[in-house]
Amino acid sequence: MNDSKRVEKNDIVLRVENIVKNFQNGDSIVKAVNGISFSLRQGEMLAVMGSSGSGKSTMLNICGALEEPDSGRIYLNGVYEENYSKEPYATEIRRKNIGFVFQDFNLLWDLSVRENISMPLILAGKREREIKKEVDEVLRQVMLTEKADAAIAELSGGQRQRVAIARAIIARPKILLADEPTGNLDFHTSRDIMELICSLQKRLNQSIIMVTHDPAIASYADRVIYFHDGRRVEGLYENAKSD
Ligand SMILES: Nc1ncnc2c1ncn2[C@@H]1O[C@H](COP(=O)(O)OP(=O)(O)O)[C@@H](O)[C@H]1O
Ligand SMILES: [Mg+2]
Repeated sequence: MNDSKRVEKNDIVLRVENIVKNFQNGDSIVKAVNGISFSLRQGEMLAVMGSSGSGKSTMLNICGALEEPDSGRIYLNGVYEENYSKEPYATEIRRKNIGFVFQDFNLLWDLSVRENISMPLILAGKREREIKKEVDEVLRQVMLTEKADAAIAELSGGQRQRVAIARAIIARPKILLADEPTGNLDFHTSRDIMELICSLQKRLNQSIIMVTHDPAIASYADRVIYFHDGRRVEGLYENAKSD
């Protein structure tokens, strides 16, 4: 009994509790995130939905130690991380635990596919031979082996996002964070990218938080939570549909 309880607790890779983040906007204060809590389980894909301005990106950036909350607690693998968002600790947290995928790909335009994907391993100080081996493996996983030496400019939108996904997972992060990963892609390419993300999730038992405002994209997730005006709400979209 105790053992099974312990397993359940360890099952949670990330827990955020009562997160608050305000922004000063001229004379007024924007309550971007206003007391949000949730947990992410190992191997789970969690979708965060909500309309524009509801605090999704701010919350995701806080989860990724890119932004510091005004208050609230963050637990990584069950451990309260007081300095989660404080440099230089935040950089370590990101390097060891987090992979990011953004709507606009955030790739380095002047570098090749291989060079872009190598970047996290170069920053981690890995040796050239090891980097080549790992990049070849991840290129296979995202089906871009033939494009290894191509320039980013030569690629389609879907291929660019596959490069970004490869770069995000190459250091085997505990958590993959994706902010509107299909936001710049057409319907069919979006579906291909979601199928890739789902297959990686299963193969790597990857824990994922994905922000989207698109119910069709959210339907790929194991669980969906909803934000409205910086707060969590219950099934906003489900309610809207049945109204
Ligand atoms: N750096 C910032 N400075 C000022 N206001 C911000 C900043 N980032 C976000 N906001 C504001 O916080 C609110 C939530 O933004 P955001 O998290 O980007 O929402 P979403 O991703 O759901 O569209 C919005 O009102 C936005 O204008
Ligand atoms: Mg956003």
